[in-house]
Amino acid sequence: MKKVNVRKMDLKDIDSVIEIENKSFKVPWSKKSFEREVKENMLAKYFVVEYDEKVVGYGGMWFIIDEIHITNIAVHPDFRGMNLGSFLLKSMIEYAESIGIYKMTLEVRKSNIVAQNLYKKFGFKECGVRPKYYENNEDAIIMWREL
Ligand SMILES: CC(C)(COP(=O)(O)OP(=O)(O)OC[C@H]1O[C@@H](n2cnc3c(N)ncnc32)[C@H](O)[C@@H]1OP(=O)(O)O)[C@@H](O)C(=O)NCCC(=O)NCCS
Repeated sequence: MKKVNVRKMDLKDIDSVIEIENKSFKVPWSKKSFEREVKENMLAKYFVVEYDEKVVGYGGMWFIIDEIHITNIAVHPDFRGMNLGSFLLKSMIEYAESIGIYKMTLEVRKSNIVAQNLYKKFGFKECGVRPKYYENNEDAIIMWREL
């Protein structure tokens, strides 16, 4: 049985994170952006999910007063569909709730049905649209989760 673990992201994780980021997004964040988020952004918290001690996914959030904005979440393509994204998101929600934050929001591409399904599974609901939000003019669906 392989061990699955979620923990806070560290600077030493960033090479693995960048590999996943590049495989997951058309417009990936740079290594510098992740370094800044982990080292300098006091309002940010990033997590990784490990499978058999290998970093295979990550997720991040920003704390904005009493709300959390999920910035990104991704699982390495070779490890998708194994419930790791669910485990990661569940852990992030539990962390938020453990510090008394119950409102979470995010934006997701209209075409990204898999991610929308993941968010809906954890109680996020579609609450609006940001038209032409992405670089290719694709709309963003705004989702919220509130207790
Ligand atoms: C979105 C993502 C993180 C999901 O990670 P994952 O580890 O594959 O997710 P899980 O295996 O935990 O599946 C979670 C839910 O997603 C949905 N899902 C997963 N694979 C799916 C597929 N092929 N088709 C439709 N829905 C799917 C299901 O609702 C699933 O829950 P269920 O199995 O209980 O029905 C992953 O697909 C990914 O990294 N995508 C690229 C990056 C991305 O788009 N991130 C989101 C940006 S907003």
